[in-house]
Amino acid sequence: MRTRPLKVALLGCGVVGSEVARIMTTHAGDLAARIGAPVELAGVAVRRPAKVREGIPQELITTDAKGLVSRDDIDVVVEVIGGIEPARTLITTAFEHGASVVSANKALLAEDGATLYAAAEKHGRDLYFEAAVAGAIPLIRPLRESLAGDKVNRVLGIVNGTTNFILDKMDTSGAGYSEALDEATALGYAEADPTADVEAFDAAAKAAILAGIAFHTRVRLDDVYREGMTEVTAADFASAKQMGCTIKLLAICERAADGRSVTARVHPAMIPLSHPLASVREAYNAVFVEAEAAGRLMFYGPGAGGAPTASAVLGDLVAVCRNKLAEATGPGESVYTQLPVSSMGEVVTRYHISLDVADKPGVLAQVATVFAEHGVSIDTVRQTGKDGEASLVVVTHRAPDAALSGTVAALRKLDTVRGVASIMRVEGE
Ligand SMILES: NC(=O)c1ccc[n+]([C@@H]2O[C@H](COP(=O)([O-])OP(=O)(O)OC[C@H]3O[C@@H](n4cnc5c(N)ncnc54)[C@H](OP(=O)(O)O)[C@@H]3O)[C@@H](O)[C@H]2O)c1
Repeated sequence: MRTRPLKVALLGCGVVGSEVARIMTTHAGDLAARIGAPVELAGVAVRRPAKVREGIPQELITTDAKGLVSRDDIDVVVEVIGGIEPARTLITTAFEHGASVVSANKALLAEDGATLYAAAEKHGRDLYFEAAVAGAIPLIRPLRESLAGDKVNRVLGIVNGTTNFILDKMDTSGAGYSEALDEATALGYAEADPTADVEAFDAAAKAAILAGIAFHTRVRLDDVYREGMTEVTAADFASAKQMGCTIKLLAICERAADGRSVTARVHPAMIPLSHPLASVREAYNAVFVEAEAAGRLMFYGPGAGGAPTASAVLGDLVAVCRNKLAEATGPGESVYTQLPVSSMGEVVTRYHISLDVADKPGVLAQVATVFAEHGVSIDTVRQTGKDGEASLVVVTHRAPDAALSGTVAALRKLDTVRGVASIMRVEGE
């Protein structure tokens, strides 16, 4: 074993960074044996240097992150600051100075992964980011390496623990959205400002990363259709139950049937209770990968939290250090297919539409005509009526999203349709 240590610069020492530092220290012997050389924490960049950080020698703490990544003796930079800047500049500077990079930064990878990959390639270094999607769950490496000989057609998953916790509470206790969010906040599953989670920005970033890797094409955050889950109601859950379904916030990345384009989207959807994703409870994550030869694979586990996320970071650190010793690099960006990303209008799926209508003869026929005119075929209709008003629940066969949007716009114009109470996609069948 080499005795000269590999030097690691840690950028950020918060929820994830503090756990990375702890595991690096407590498992130093095992890590050295697995890598073939000791790893040494050479510096830790933070915002607030005075904060007490257990187990980290004060002389390693710095507020000069730029200075730390510009040192020529650093072998690996671990970026767990988050956000776009200064993280992007720090990572590119690290590559310029000869370091490889391990990052957990989904926001940056989804927004501008291309810049990071290009800098890594230019300087012949590694960019690893297992922790950026679904915390501890091995997903990036299986997609980049284990499935490199297969053809992935679909990635379908629950990639945000906060929203899964909220939806699970609504499902099991009958709580409304606000009540379930309050409980998630009280238990530490939701942040004080939950926007990134409940409006699905976080899940959209992960979908962009997964789609890009799965289909070997470039998918950016802007390419991902995004719908949050704040509008999901207890009534939606009641409807879902009647259909033998539950509701999950899903990230769905698909190759088109003709293979010429891909789509990436994040939105709440009904899935059958028989689908494995329906039984993913609380804040857990799970991702289904469908590949041509491998068939259906499911990855399940804790999608966030300091220690689970640090586990993924440490796995990358070991891999990157091994590469460094072997004077090799792991896989870089793979975008050779250059498949375009289609808009949401071209996505084909099933829909559950709940309408408030006048309870009088002929309404059902009127509604059915509108669906037919837009080429959306109806699977089932359920009507309940009382005191002149009725609720009509229509479940469609598979149809393009644009056709469904046209149908809904036309339905809103009917005098007999008082309102469109909810529209929910039905997935996983
Ligand atoms: N938390 C999770 O469960 C989780 C899961 C998967 C991925 N991630 C990703 O991991 C990354 C870190 O998340 P986190 O939850 O650990 O965040 P966090 O607890 O807010 O920690 C951020 C750390 O970065 C430091 N920092 C912020 N701005 C800085 C700057 N300009 N220069 C130097 N240091 C700076 C902070 O310093 P101070 O300590 O002085 O404030 C803090 O130590 C993010 O990209 C996140 O998306 C997190």
